[in-house]
Amino acid sequence: MSAVPPASAPVSAASQQRWWWWPLLPLYPYGRRRTLVRELIPGQVWSLEQLQGVFYVAVPIRMTVVRLRSGLLLYGPLPPTGEVLAALRELEQRYGPVRSIVLPTASGLEHKLPTPALARAFPAATVWVTPEQWSFPVRLPSSWLGFPAGRTRVLFEDGLPHADELAWRGLGPLDLGLGTFMEVACLHRASGALLLTDALVAIAPEPPPLFDADPTPLLFHARDRGDQPLNDTPELRRRGWQRLVLFASYLQPARLEVPPLREVLAQALAPGLRQPRSYFGLYPFRWCPDWEEEFRTLVPGEEPALQVAPVLERLVFPRCRDALIRWIRDLAAWPELRWLVPAHYEAPVPCDRETLAQLATTLESRPWAPDAQSWSTLARIDGALLRLGLVPREPVS
Ligand SMILES: [Fe+2]
Repeated sequence: MSAVPPASAPVSAASQQRWWWWPLLPLYPYGRRRTLVRELIPGQVWSLEQLQGVFYVAVPIRMTVVRLRSGLLLYGPLPPTGEVLAALRELEQRYGPVRSIVLPTASGLEHKLPTPALARAFPAATVWVTPEQWSFPVRLPSSWLGFPAGRTRVLFEDGLPHADELAWRGLGPLDLGLGTFMEVACLHRASGALLLTDALVAIAPEPPPLFDADPTPLLFHARDRGDQPLNDTPELRRRGWQRLVLFASYLQPARLEVPPLREVLAQALAPGLRQPRSYFGLYPFRWCPDWEEEFRTLVPGEEPALQVAPVLERLVFPRCRDALIRWIRDLAAWPELRWLVPAHYEAPVPCDRETLAQLATTLESRPWAPDAQSWSTLARIDGALLRLGLVPREPVS
């Protein structure tokens, strides 16, 4: 991948124009998206990763490229920035054209929004989407959502792409009231890579290499007070990453307090921090001394911890455990399984049938979608949705 631009390469002017509107949202990194290209399995599977989040709570989002016998398949679209297109054009030169683009989720906006633009960049590719695509507040036809008419197919309903090389298994559709959840996993038989979207993730205690180009979000969260500078050491990057994971997992972790406004303002605008990079010293967080124990409940060791992300367990799957476990057991039936490649956090993660079977057993036997401690904010949101009648009260199958 020598010709692929480095992660720090500037995004082309054309792609910046195309994404000019991103800074209007508080979505980090505010239109300055960098893409890290990694070869996950030599000659067979590649990962294109970008950071995406709100303010400085940003986690990797991944598009996976799979080599077919004649061409490429893209799973989980990313915005087609200059870096993304340069990487894909180089892979096309080596292995053939992009033949299929797969939107593997019905509800994951971060994967759905870039699909039309990516489809326009590859006009000869077939676009495959999961069933039950939906929009809010009004349900619109798929062509109105930007999916190209004439070359958009629905997985399972219109067949399955490259079924001689890939195996497909859907979780859902699950009617969640506000919308429908569906995710389609894809097994690349040749490499044993199982591509997933949101349902399962593997979280590591060390920050992913995507932050090497700009560790600012990690350094921001590594501090204890707003008037502390953004120092950069490996220990601080690791601390910042673990706190960022707690934010992304629980929204409001239990070991986090919000200091009084007067204290926040008194620490703002300290010398060296009067700049947007440090949000001018505004830091409305105070971590309790034992906050690391909370991270260790998520990631107990030094290896990536395979799990259902808490925010999904409590807000998407609180009454869908049985369907989720059945799907995991279905995935565990594939003998070719060797790697997991989810669309967020770590990849590739070594995995075999026994690993997934054990995960299903663990999920079945432990308390599901709890309310206490760090889960309380997520539980309050779910409770409010239940009271408003916006989500189903009974188990969803
Ligand atoms: Fe996602």
